[in-house]
Amino acid sequence: MSLKDQIIPSRLPNHIAVIMDGNGRWAKLKGLFRTAGHEKGANAVKEVVEGCGDLGIKFVTLYAFSTENWNRPKMEVKTLMNLLVSSLKKEINTLQKNKIRLHAIGNIESLPSKVYKELQEVMEKTKENDKMMLTLALSYGSREEITNIIKEISAKVKNNIISIENIDETVINEHLYTRNLPDVDLLIRTSGEQRISNFLLWQIAYAELYFTEVLWPDFNKEHLFEAIINYQNRERRFGKTSDQLN
Ligand code: IPE
Ligand code: IPE
Ligand code: MG
Repeated sequence: MSLKDQIIPSRLPNHIAVIMDGNGRWAKLKGLFRTAGHEKGANAVKEVVEGCGDLGIKFVTLYAFSTENWNRPKMEVKTLMNLLVSSLKKEINTLQKNKIRLHAIGNIESLPSKVYKELQEVMEKTKENDKMMLTLALSYGSREEITNIIKEISAKVKNNIISIENIDETVINEHLYTRNLPDVDLLIRTSGEQRISNFLLWQIAYAELYFTEVLWPDFNKEHLFEAIINYQNRERRFGKTSDQLN
């Protein structure tokens, strides 16, 4: 039986998030520049989006560039930004054909203007697509996100738009970048690192975490299916006992 056939359709994760890591190490192992790893990483994005599309997964969120990644060498940042623009231009037709809506979270205004413009254009063109919401986390940092919403909510309290008593988890969710997204069910990180690196700290409160040694440029549909099968073999208890669930 193929891996895909082992997946139980009624128990699919609704929202998969991915920390796409290991591009640099992949390139180094091959004696190439880090850039080559990022370029090959774009193929892995296609694999995951296609694989999720085949299964009918509605929400896919990819960590593409963190607030901390601005501290990388200027040339690498530039390459990543250029790659983003070229990938957006190249993939717009595929997004349309497969009815995928592109969405972004993070401080996207801080991106170079050509990236920002291209992103806005693709988001605008795909906004009616309803088969999948593909979210790119760009210049995203969870601590920055949470810091900003504390400021926003505080300002609302100060201006009597909201009272302190009414601040609850729903209010917080509505202020996050992810306000249009459901909670993450499955978080995948490639390259063997077992950390979160400032990604969706609030949103992964009850996500199932899956770490694989595979470097991102090598990650393909079969690896995705393995992660989903692994997820389906877990019991998500949300604080309850096993008996309560049955
Ligand atoms: C992930 O691969 C891509 C980004 C963080 C933008 P890395 O570039 O972090 O690759 P490694 O971790 O150095 O191998
Ligand atoms: C996390 O990867 C960010 C992205 C995948 C975009 P990093 O490679 O930047 O993470 P750390 O710094 O090694 O934790
Ligand atoms: Mg890395």
